Amino acid sequence: MLAVGSTLGTLGFEGAVDVFGPGVTNTLYVLHKTGGVLLLGLMAVRIVARLKYGRPHYAIPIEHRAQRVLSEAVHGLLYIGLIAMPVLGWAATATGGYPINFFQWVLPPLMGENESLSAVLFQLHGLLGWALIGLLILHISGGLYHWLIRKDGVMTRMSLLRSPRRG
Ligand code: HEM
Repeated sequence: MLAVGSTLGTLGFEGAVDVFGPGVTNTLYVLHKTGGVLLLGLMAVRIVARLKYGRPHYAIPIEHRAQRVLSEAVHGLLYIGLIAMPVLGWAATATGGYPINFFQWVLPPLMGENESLSAVLFQLHGLLGWALIGLLILHISGGLYHWLIRKDGVMTRMSLLRSPRRG
């Protein structure tokens, strides 16, 4: 989503048509919007599941309070970012008068056209993209720190191949 979005945002529609041609450009826009709407749905499922089942306990005690604050802040901000990003993308697209593509369908815009609002919302969509890249870097760094430095099994817990006893 970030890679395709940034490519389209940097080149703009006309620039993308110059580089990729109209067919591929159209496919990239449709793919980006479809992926974003799917992601919004997955986040909704995740939030419902989390409210219903709670979240797993920390696998290991976290020694430093700062680490726990950082870990919880990154997770919380990822939730907010992954909801806000598709909502902003949807709102920016709808107020710009563009279609909300979802596979071969077009979803209702839910907002009226407003060109200046659309420009602001697209700008926020782009800024939040940078914030998400920062959060991803922190999140991945945390995983690598557990895997390569602490070697404490936190990464194994995320693996599909984990042993059931480890939970
Ligand atoms: C988690 C979901 C999403 C992510 C991570 C994401 C990410 C991005 C990023 C980083 C950009 C580049 C912004 C810029 O540089 O100006 C972008 C552009 C764009 N996004 Fe998204 N996006 C998401 C969801 C959506 C959704 C749901 C829609 C619409 C239904 C959408 C529509 C667009 C459009 C139309 C552009 C191109 C704007 C242009 O041509 O200048 N995005 N997206």
